[in-house]
Amino acid sequence: MNEVLLSTPEAGIALIRINREEARNALNDAVRARLADFFGQLSEDKEVRCIILTGGSRVFAAGADIKAMAEASAIDIMLRATHRLWQAITACGKPIIAAVNGLALGGGCELAMNADLIIAGESARFGQPEIKLGIIPGAGGTQRLTRAVGKFKAMKMLLTGQPIGAAEAFGMGLVSEVVGDDQVLERAMALAREIAALPPLAIAQVKEVVLAGQDIPLEAALMLERKAFQILFASADQKEGMRAFIEKRPPEFKGI
Ligand code: CAA
Repeated sequence: MNEVLLSTPEAGIALIRINREEARNALNDAVRARLADFFGQLSEDKEVRCIILTGGSRVFAAGADIKAMAEASAIDIMLRATHRLWQAITACGKPIIAAVNGLALGGGCELAMNADLIIAGESARFGQPEIKLGIIPGAGGTQRLTRAVGKFKAMKMLLTGQPIGAAEAFGMGLVSEVVGDDQVLERAMALAREIAALPPLAIAQVKEVVLAGQDIPLEAALMLERKAFQILFASADQKEGMRAFIEKRPPEFKGI
């Protein structure tokens, strides 16, 4: 039960920590189920404005639990239907910041890619080593990585299984920021604080439109953006934000 921990370090900010150090934070069914529960729960919680997802100081997560699947049959894997557990994360409408120290490998890299921002420590390493195990990534690695960094950089990682460092990951667009290893959580908290103070309806629309828009034709995506833009004029926070600007005072957003 303590393999994934949930806390509220500050009002509006939830912190999820994977805490299975002895197995390098490998994602077994219990860890995945608990992550899904927490993300589902936080998604519904009106008090939560931003979620930080982190691991340990040496390993963010070393991927799916290899011991739990080494002897599994194809049908076992199919029946486990772990994509349902991942869906709780992808369906989460709140902004998610992955605070990554150490290794984010396989499902760990895929988990980080489910976040909206990735803050990496300078020694962090990202990789999709599944090919070395005789499989391929099964939780979005071939798709989200390619969308994030482009075909040729993704192919290099996927076909060799070699991890890359934080600076290279930043250069290719896989992470949002690289900071000192001991600054990762602090920086994630600062960003979460900044996001938590902004109007949550507009924040949710940014997330929804960016994610939905990247997989549909541009004209349809622009239409989605227009509609979200228009709808936000029904929110009290839009009136407050613009009036505060004109009246030269700080806005007081209420989330309505
Ligand atoms: N699954 C299960 N157990 C794991 C694990 C994993 N992914 N990663 C590490 N462990 C276990 C080890 O088996 C070991 O257990 P024992 O103490 O019982 O022997 C313990 O964690 C410590 O591991 P190491 O001794 O290897 O620790 P290290 O610090 O020397 O190395 C590591 C760390 C580089 C992460 C190395 O453990 C490693 O390469 N792990 C596997 C990474 C990997 O291949 N991930 C992809 C998994 S497949 C996947 O993720 C599919 C998908 O798309 C969803």
